[in-house]
Amino acid sequence: MAALRAALLAWFDASGRDLPWRAGIEGRRDPYRVWVAEVLLQQTQVSRGLGYYERFLDAFPTVQVLAQAPLEAVLKAWEGCGYYARARHLHRAAQQVAAQGFPTSYAGWRALPGVGPYTAAAIASLAFGEARAVNDGNVRRVLARLGAQTRPSDTWVQAQADALLDPERPGAWNEALMDLGATVCTPRAPRCAACPVAAFCQAFAQGQPTAFPAPKVR
Ligand code: ADE
Repeated sequence: MAALRAALLAWFDASGRDLPWRAGIEGRRDPYRVWVAEVLLQQTQVSRGLGYYERFLDAFPTVQVLAQAPLEAVLKAWEGCGYYARARHLHRAAQQVAAQGFPTSYAGWRALPGVGPYTAAAIASLAFGEARAVNDGNVRRVLARLGAQTRPSDTWVQAQADALLDPERPGAWNEALMDLGATVCTPRAPRCAACPVAAFCQAFAQGQPTAFPAPKVR
């Protein structure tokens, strides 16, 4: 476990993506910038979402500006970013934050409108250094391959994510898993030759990385 962690974090430090909300000190990122990124990226890939992200932050650079903006302006800026419910929740939550201050814990974030377990874990770890494991599609795929699980249950994925999480660098660990899933451990053509944790991967050992997880049966 320690060796796997060290290998993935070394890779992340050297090759992690340079993304706009990653500026600043690890575990002390700007919560507003992380929050907007995580809500936006729930529906678009990073490559596509970056332009929208910069545009949204230009229009609403701080949570106070967002809170005071008319809902119509927020919805207008959200055009192209998918579900408008996300923008409505973000606006309403921004008004609570502008009045009460940023929550500083996972539980505090979860209490805001529209902030689910994924978003709260991402913000708590990236902006506040809280040891919370994120669980999204990329994380599920990476963990399913590491453990050679064809049909990992949500409970299994969360338990694995919790157990592997680096308590010293939870934000970096979470983003390292996301970056690995997005750039190396991709769904159809994983680049195992470039993978920093291939030596720990049971799917790779079986020569069958894409067999895990099995495609969802409907
Ligand atoms: N996708 C969603 N959130 C992300 C993050 N913080 N880093 C990389 N990819 C992401």
